[in-house]
Amino acid sequence: MEIPERWQFKQPNAGEFEEVKKWVEDFWLDDESMDSARFRVLVDSNKVIAFGRLRENIDATELCTLGVVKEFRGKGLGRLMVECLLKEAKQDIYVVTVIPAFFSKLGFEFVENYPASMQKKVNLCTTDYHVGEIYRVMKWKKPK
Ligand SMILES: CC(C)(COP(=O)(O)OP(=O)(O)OC[C@H]1O[C@@H](n2cnc3c(N)ncnc32)[C@H](O)[C@@H]1OP(=O)(O)O)[C@@H](O)C(=O)NCCC(=O)NCCS
Repeated sequence: MEIPERWQFKQPNAGEFEEVKKWVEDFWLDDESMDSARFRVLVDSNKVIAFGRLRENIDATELCTLGVVKEFRGKGLGRLMVECLLKEAKQDIYVVTVIPAFFSKLGFEFVENYPASMQKKVNLCTTDYHVGEIYRVMKWKKPK
């Protein structure tokens, strides 16, 4: 999907980052090491409608803190956000998720062996963010 002209994909400015932080809290998403430089947002008429980041862990790059504002869901924005983030990826990308079907459509595959920071994230999700679903680790391989 191409980005429609009225939407901007960008690094959030200070005000947009405040909006992101509010949504992250509302949606109970991963708020560890919040760094606006790692975030990207889709903005429509000066409002953040989707966001996500590629976080550099010590041993892996992780796609996390992905969200689409509720009234904009189901229109392909989540997919667009992930596709835009993957275009910026410098190496393989990991994700820990309870919605593997969403990520499989974007080229992520299940992995049994993964970096320690991903195991730490699974443990954190299972204790702190537990939603009664199974957390899976998936990997997207950067094309050579
Ligand atoms: C998950 C989320 C980002 C999806 O955003 P979205 O804009 O509604 O998704 P899209 O419209 O781009 O959907 C793309 C595809 O994934 C599918 N999909 C969307 N949400 C899904 C879900 N929860 N589970 C499985 N598949 C899903 C869609 O049906 C669509 O399939 P299609 O291409 O075959 O039609 C959004 O629902 C959200 O912000 N959820 C709350 C936060 C969250 O769960 N973040 C993910 C943390 S890992």
